[in-house]
Amino acid sequence: MLSPNDIKKITGEAAARIVQSGMTVGIGTGSTAYWLIMALGQQVKAGLDIRCVPTSTHTAQLAAEQSIPLTTLNEVDNIDMTIDGADEIDPAGQLIKGGGGALLQEKMVAAASRELVIIADHTKLVSQLGAFPLPVEIIPFGWKQVQQRIETLYRTKSALRLKDQQPLVTDHGHYILDVHFQQIEDPAFLNTLLNTIPGVVDNGLFIDMATQSIIGYPDGSVKTHHFNRPNP
Ligand code: A5P
Repeated sequence: MLSPNDIKKITGEAAARIVQSGMTVGIGTGSTAYWLIMALGQQVKAGLDIRCVPTSTHTAQLAAEQSIPLTTLNEVDNIDMTIDGADEIDPAGQLIKGGGGALLQEKMVAAASRELVIIADHTKLVSQLGAFPLPVEIIPFGWKQVQQRIETLYRTKSALRLKDQQPLVTDHGHYILDVHFQQIEDPAFLNTLLNTIPGVVDNGLFIDMATQSIIGYPDGSVKTHHFNRPNP
């Protein structure tokens, strides 16, 4: 049986194998994406010709260390394929992301991509989203008002994400509230409503975005699943 880290490794490596020369690739953030970046680094050294749009400062640093050619969202018309992790994946391929704090940039990169391939270990598969606290990115100004509104509207509890006992500040200067919904009955509806609250920048629900999942299992197998999506 593979360790949790080894499952992430084989999953990231499997995803790297579907990347082809000539592609513009969005590269995700997190411990599974780490292995994707390591594998892409090897493939680039062996001649794979790609350019990548990173989804966080951390990923940009990792990729640069691997000599992976980088570009930015502003410099590309669109992205062929983004490969990124997730915190929860439901049977329809709806996602909770943002456990690593990079949800805004991840969502913008995913939205510009023809394909969003999700890489994860089998523990991320759920029958219903919500057990993982939903990250909601908010502006620091008046953040307690936003927290109060979310908790009152949805009768939930939430916590401001901290780092070293201070509010965690995202790559884009925002805070993150982790909201404990427990069960999200209608992820698409919640996604839309949350983003209408003044002070909310975006939230970690990725609706109808994933086109494919690559899931790793403790026995060393990796399974691919394609989600039906309407043509963009
Ligand atoms: C980063 O903000 C997240 O969306 C990650 O993609 C997600 O948390 C999955 O990370 P792991 O692969 O580390 O579990």
